[in-house]
Amino acid sequence: MQIAILGTGNVGGALARALAPRHAITLGTRDAAQPSDRTTALAAHTGAQIAAMPDAAQAAEVILLALPWHALTSTLPSLGPLAGKVVIDGTNPLTPTPHGLDLALGHTTSGAEYVQRQLPAAHVVKTLNQVGAEVMEHNAHLPHRPVQFIAGDSAQAKETAATLLRDLGFDPLDAGPLHRARLLEPFALLWINQAILRGKGRTWAFAAIDGPAP
Ligand SMILES: NC(=O)c1ccc[n+]([C@@H]2O[C@H](COP(=O)([O-])OP(=O)(O)OC[C@H]3O[C@@H](n4cnc5c(N)ncnc54)[C@H](OP(=O)(O)O)[C@@H]3O)[C@@H](O)[C@H]2O)c1
Repeated sequence: MQIAILGTGNVGGALARALAPRHAITLGTRDAAQPSDRTTALAAHTGAQIAAMPDAAQAAEVILLALPWHALTSTLPSLGPLAGKVVIDGTNPLTPTPHGLDLALGHTTSGAEYVQRQLPAAHVVKTLNQVGAEVMEHNAHLPHRPVQFIAGDSAQAKETAATLLRDLGFDPLDAGPLHRARLLEPFALLWINQAILRGKGRTWAFAAIDGPAP
């Protein structure tokens, strides 16, 4: 697949390294004429192209959002309509509060629904927000395949996302329509709370474990 990864930080870097062996990757960056050393090194390591975010998005079949929540307001309108393209929203609408990182919104809407409103002609899928970047890149050592829930309104776009999730070593599970992102974004905060505030570390993941009925 032709994939644009917008953002080349922890998540963008992990996904580029993990997906580059199977897919054609373009790294979308703020300044394609003078990319950061980190972006240049990532492109050299993965064989990915570097392009301005709108160019990367318009040339891709699938766009992975790996940007901070606060960056979406200015970035999404610059991308063009992205009609018919699959946009995988891996962001979490996080904001600092006096008691640590918390959700900037939720319960009655979600970050993913905001993304869909900004890109009404695209097929937005919420996933890849529920675990740390380290597990997105390396999970073969885990005793169970980690689960990654998917929310979206297009069955075909969710199947595309599921294919990429399997390529990354995840067990994809359909959570329903895009408004179910209202469950998946707090779920990410649960992972963050355990990983960071409660000291569990960043190399664990949720798994959906089936078994025979007792
Ligand atoms: N880190 C995790 O383990 C994890 C896991 C699940 C979900 N998430 C979510 O994934 C998203 C990315 O997280 P991250 O940890 O990868 O962040 P990060 O390491 O800080 O990387 C953010 C990327 O976005 C770019 N960026 C920052 N501000 C921007 C702006 N105003 N306009 C355009 N680009 C901008 C940065 O560019 P520069 O390099 O030029 O600064 C960088 O490439 C967040 O929404 C986060 O909540 C993170």
